[in-house]
Order: sequence, then structure tokens, then C-alpha cells
Amino acid sequence: MSFDRTIKIAPSILSADFANFGAEIQAIEAQGADWVHVDVMDGHFVPNLTFGPPAVKAFRPHVKTVMDVHLMITPVDPYIQAYADAGADILTAHVEAGPHTHRTLQAIRAAGMKAGVALNPGTPAEAVEHLLDLTDLVCVMTVNPGFGGQKFIDMTGKVRKVRQMIGDRPVHIEIDGGVDPKTAPLVAAAGADVLVAGSAVFKGGSVSTPQVYGDNIRAVRAAAEDALS
Ligand code: DX5
Ligand code: ZN
Repeated sequence: MSFDRTIKIAPSILSADFANFGAEIQAIEAQGADWVHVDVMDGHFVPNLTFGPPAVKAFRPHVKTVMDVHLMITPVDPYIQAYADAGADILTAHVEAGPHTHRTLQAIRAAGMKAGVALNPGTPAEAVEHLLDLTDLVCVMTVNPGFGGQKFIDMTGKVRKVRQMIGDRPVHIEIDGGVDPKTAPLVAAAGADVLVAGSAVFKGGSVSTPQVYGDNIRAVRAAAEDALS
């Protein structure tokens, strides 16, 4: 995985057909997805439950781009090796998930993955200031994690701060929650490069009408890129 700050669209398969993940992943990649975003929830850190390492392992052969695994679980550390074995390229943990995020990020890298750190809307940018040399991605949540299809919470000021703190480091800024063609320009202009979008990508389409996914991906990308030109 080489580093660049061009806009990348990462559809969240939380909005896909849960009975058909393989075909859904193939469809979004064929329609221009840059990364595939996989939301892992434990019914404890967040009030919803999705899937664990065996499911993520089953997704792996279908993902030809980058498998971006977002852990909304606590604790994290006991499961890091299982997600490495499942084939995650990027493993993101929440800074709120435990007292030792520094150790968690070291362990994720030691297991051979890129390490991401996510911030809930109520958590300030400064929470990642001393983690930036250990991380490959800062995920700024623009909804309270747990569900797809929620309303975007404006975190533009936080994104700007994180961008400034990152400086020249090769660290991505990812935005997760409520990203659509209206909100994408705000976060792109503030310095984000990875845009997670669940409902905005999957709405109106299916594996039998995948061109809708393509139109939706292009709409988010074009809106974000316009904000940079
Ligand atoms: C929220 C998840 C998101 C979610 C985004 O807890 O982390 O990745 O699927 O969905 P939308 O784009 O519908 O807000
Ligand atoms: Zn997510």
C-alpha cells in the first residue's frame, strides 16, 4: 500500500446485503471503490453487533483493493492477531476503547498491519497528538458509531486540527459517518482523504443493478474533488 493524499472512497459494507457479502464487495470494487470498509461491532462498545474474525476472513478473498477494518469493540488487544490472520490491511481501534491506545497501535503494527486510531465525536483532536508516529490513519467519526444511515455531525474544525498536527507524516485522515455528496466537500476541504460511505453508496442499488453503486461513488468523489480544485 503506497501512501497518497488523493481522495479515496471506502464503501462501508454495513449497508450491503448481509446475505451476499462476496458479491457486494465485488460489485463495489468493480464500480470504483478504492478501499472496502468493514465495521466490526461488539454490542458493548457500541449498541450494535455485526461480525467477527471468521466473517472478515471470509470477505478477504473478495477484496482486491484494501481491507480497512474498523473495530468498534473493547477490549481490542486480545483480538489483534485474529484480525491479522483474517487478512486485514488496516486495523483501526478507538482511542476511547481502552487506557493503552499507544500499546494497541504498536501491537497492530507488530502484527503486520497498518494501524488506525478513531475518535468519537465527543473526543478532542488532541487525544491523538502523541500517537501520530505510531499510526497510519486517523479516523474522525462524524456520527456516534454503531449504526449506518445517521445524520452527519460537523467535525470540520477537528479535521483541520488533526491535519495540522499530522504535518508531513504519511498519515491518512478518514471520515466515517453521514458522508454524501453534500458533506464530502466540507471534510475534503478540511484535509480528509479517505471518505467512508455506507448508505450514500449502497442506496438504490443491488448486485443486479451495480451501476447505481458506481453513480453513487462517482457523486461522492466528484463532490469531494471539486472542493479541492
Ligand atoms: C458507523 C460506522 C460507519 C457507517 C457509515 O458506526 O462506523 O462506517 O457504516 O454509514 P453511513 O455512511 O451510512 O453513515
Ligand atoms: Zn466505520
